[in-house]
Amino acid sequence: MSVLLEARNIQYSVSGHTSSVFGSRRKTVLQDVSLHVAEQETLGIVGSSGSGKSTLSRILTGLAQPENGEILFQGKDLRDAAGQVRKDIRPKIQMIFQDPQGALDPRQTVRQIVKEPLHQMALSNEEKERRVLEVLADVALPQDGAERYPRMFSGGQRQRIAIARALVTRPSVIIADEAVSALDVSTQAVVLNLLLDLQERHGLSYIFVSHDLAVIRHISHRVAVLDEGRIVETGPTLSVLDHPQQSTTRDLIAASL
Ligand SMILES: Nc1ncnc2c1ncn2[C@@H]1O[C@H](COP(=O)(O)OP(=O)(O)O)[C@@H](O)[C@H]1O
Ligand SMILES: [Mg+2]
Repeated sequence: MSVLLEARNIQYSVSGHTSSVFGSRRKTVLQDVSLHVAEQETLGIVGSSGSGKSTLSRILTGLAQPENGEILFQGKDLRDAAGQVRKDIRPKIQMIFQDPQGALDPRQTVRQIVKEPLHQMALSNEEKERRVLEVLADVALPQDGAERYPRMFSGGQRQRIAIARALVTRPSVIIADEAVSALDVSTQAVVLNLLLDLQERHGLSYIFVSHDLAVIRHISHRVAVLDEGRIVETGPTLSVLDHPQQSTTRDLIAASL
């Protein structure tokens, strides 16, 4: 399998909350993080709260810029010489967030929300409208749902709207940051199965971030364990979760039982 998206030696820090007479200190959030996802593969990223999962997700999609290291898409740098995310790569990497409520503008109709990522793309309006209806069908939302507002949908349906918006640019990889964590267990299963189905139909890769090891076990081929901004263990999901080599991994497993 060929590598689709790769992070190399990512370093990221933020300025500390407290400044003292010694000056403000920087807090390292990610330290020398390298990982990759292959075509049609799902990489799970696990780690306790504050380990750097969301920061890494934002860097992988180009929403945040690392101080050091690079993101490569099909071997090509995500950013150009000026540090801007390349326009041809941007539509290929999409993200889904935990909170569909917060991620969807309540004043916009589903049509407007799902269409929004297409504004940057050189497509006719007719083609954009066609794609909106196509992805709504893809995630099994009713076509007449396009004129409704997010509040009129259930939590699971709102996450389908978010998935439709991610799909509309025809991405190769979707980065899902705790994408099912806010849903009840039965809705989680439905949404996870939808994601697996979409992966098969569209040949998608996923980077699936979750603190929930049951979810990771269900969806991921490989897993990377993040601890205080470092990858401490990585390998096929079942070997990492059934035969953990590191204490961090064992602690995560113990905490999830
Ligand atoms: N903009 C920021 N300002 C200050 N601290 C931040 C910022 N972004 C992230 N952090 C810190 O980075 C660490 C990792 O955060 P995050 O990536 O959200 O972790 P996770 O998603 O694994 O819970 C945390 O300690 C958090 O406080
Ligand atoms: Mg997070």
